[in-house]
Amino acid sequence: MYRTHTCGHLRITDVNRIVTLSGWVQTIRKFGAISFVDLRDRYGITQLLFGEELQPLLDVHPLGREFVIQVKGFVQERENKNAHLATGDIEVLVSEFDILNTALVPPFTIQDDTDGGDDLRMKYRYLDLRRNVVKKNLELRYAITRSVRNYLHEQSFIEVETPFLIKSTPEGARDFIVPSRMNEGQFYALPQSPQTFKQLLMVSGYDRYFQIVKCFRDEDLRADRQPEFTQIDCEMSFVEQEDILNTFENMIKRIFKDVKNLDYEEPIERMSWEDAMWRFGIDKPDTRFDMELTNIKTLFQNSKSKSYPELIAGTDFPVFNQAETVIALVAPECGFYTRKQTDELTEWVKRPQIGMQGLVYIKCNADGSYKSSVDKYFDEEKLQAIAETCGARAGDLILLLAGKEEKTRKAAGELRLEMARRLNFRNTETFKLLWIIDFPLFEYDDSSNRWVARHHPFTAPKKEQIAVMLNNDPSIKNAENYLAHPFAEIKANAYDLVLNGNEVGGGSIRIFQKDLQEKMFTALGMSKEDAMQKFGFLMNAFEYGAPPHGGIAFGLDRLCSIIGGSESIRDFIAFPKNNSGRDVMLDAPSTIEDEQLKELNLQWRGK
Ligand code: AMO
Repeated sequence: MYRTHTCGHLRITDVNRIVTLSGWVQTIRKFGAISFVDLRDRYGITQLLFGEELQPLLDVHPLGREFVIQVKGFVQERENKNAHLATGDIEVLVSEFDILNTALVPPFTIQDDTDGGDDLRMKYRYLDLRRNVVKKNLELRYAITRSVRNYLHEQSFIEVETPFLIKSTPEGARDFIVPSRMNEGQFYALPQSPQTFKQLLMVSGYDRYFQIVKCFRDEDLRADRQPEFTQIDCEMSFVEQEDILNTFENMIKRIFKDVKNLDYEEPIERMSWEDAMWRFGIDKPDTRFDMELTNIKTLFQNSKSKSYPELIAGTDFPVFNQAETVIALVAPECGFYTRKQTDELTEWVKRPQIGMQGLVYIKCNADGSYKSSVDKYFDEEKLQAIAETCGARAGDLILLLAGKEEKTRKAAGELRLEMARRLNFRNTETFKLLWIIDFPLFEYDDSSNRWVARHHPFTAPKKEQIAVMLNNDPSIKNAENYLAHPFAEIKANAYDLVLNGNEVGGGSIRIFQKDLQEKMFTALGMSKEDAMQKFGFLMNAFEYGAPPHGGIAFGLDRLCSIIGGSESIRDFIAFPKNNSGRDVMLDAPSTIEDEQLKELNLQWRGK
């Protein structure tokens, strides 16, 4: 028998027991003729004491870091107890030991604060996974999936697996393609999600489906994106949006209770997409802090209460006057910012990713006076009017961006997050959930001058707006003014769940009638034949009694990283890819043998 106990098991009550332990050598400390060894396994660390009589043997068979050893010995009370260790009251006085396997010196220390850089740790991920911090992340991930499975099981959901070798499903990213040997010249695609399969399962009558499933998307990677990631994918029949929101609100609360022992009691706030975009400049607002945006252009135009419109309208500041919108952000207690700091923020908004021309600031001084970068155009009274309009107080800093509506509110949203970062508002120990609802059904794609589905083409429009979709020509005559097209107004029965400013889930009520689905494909610029060729299987299925249905999918990796308090989802994936989509441990992707290419009748054309 390799072990009677694990390295995390023994306590003071086990003193005098004869035990056998197996594990990895974490550290060796030699004191004269005796040695202390910390033995580690998945469950913890136990101190071993090698007495004088074992030293000759140790001299012949020296131990090294990460050696796998087995020891037999006697549990005794420690002289110097270690309160930080669960087994810290005892040690095992070794009587026999056996080296089960030796180990090379690891390329980095197997400790919480390791000396290994990112790349090195990814190359030797199996060693990185031995570290306690990484192990804790995987344990958290398992706790979350267990909580989800328990909850969904109690709610009568059934887990069904769906295939990986499929035909392309449009979710907005590129597909990973797999050539077929048996069907020469033809290719499978790996699923970007099991979307169409779960809808087919609804047609088959499995009215509550879920699957914890890998999805594959060939897209540019970021800290919260991996080319293969895991979804908690769910679908329900005979439901409306309200049923889905309630079911999954309870699921997420259950996760917080099970894994963090946190009672998230208040109902999750719901916010329309339109509101989110105006108030926060983003469709996944971080509502752990305020700093809401104010559209001062419309406020000034609509304000009935005070004479602000005239006050500002009389200003000859072309940047504001000519802009479609002017958005203000109030950074609390930042009125002390120096010229250097405001210049830095100006440079920040001018970066290509943000793309603004510049930034106007107004400092609200503690004595009630104002200082701004536009003093030439705005006197004290006008600055005060702006400050009051956006709710700034003495000591605050107002940042103003002007330009085209969509671009400006997006930039203001980014600036809001940047200021929050600088002000340390993004505290990882608080959790704030938010539903975003009433998304637009379509999004305008300027590269092809047509509509694309904002969520995916299976999402249903709001019932009362179906007629708008059916009765209007989708073509866009005036690209400059696409917002005037009736399609721009159509809202979807779609929803996202946002946690601390991250989209952790998204779903919709689906189209379940063939005609409407056909119309949707036409609206997206697909010919009837094309739609039939790509999605005939789904539309045919809709003709055999498809129930009303809807669903949602959560990004498991993202949920883990946010609940675990980390920026990167990689920390919660056992074997992740790096930012170039590579597995540096396997050295994949890689070239394949000529023989394999020949078998597939494929040829690499080179660059
Ligand atoms: P969606 O595309 O919104 O919806 O994906 C659902 C959730 O999956 C997570 N996610 C990702 N996580 C890590 N890396 C990625 N590359 C990545 N892409 C997405 C996000 C996201 O909220 N079939 C629909 C769901 C439905 O309609 O039911 C879908 O896949 O957290």
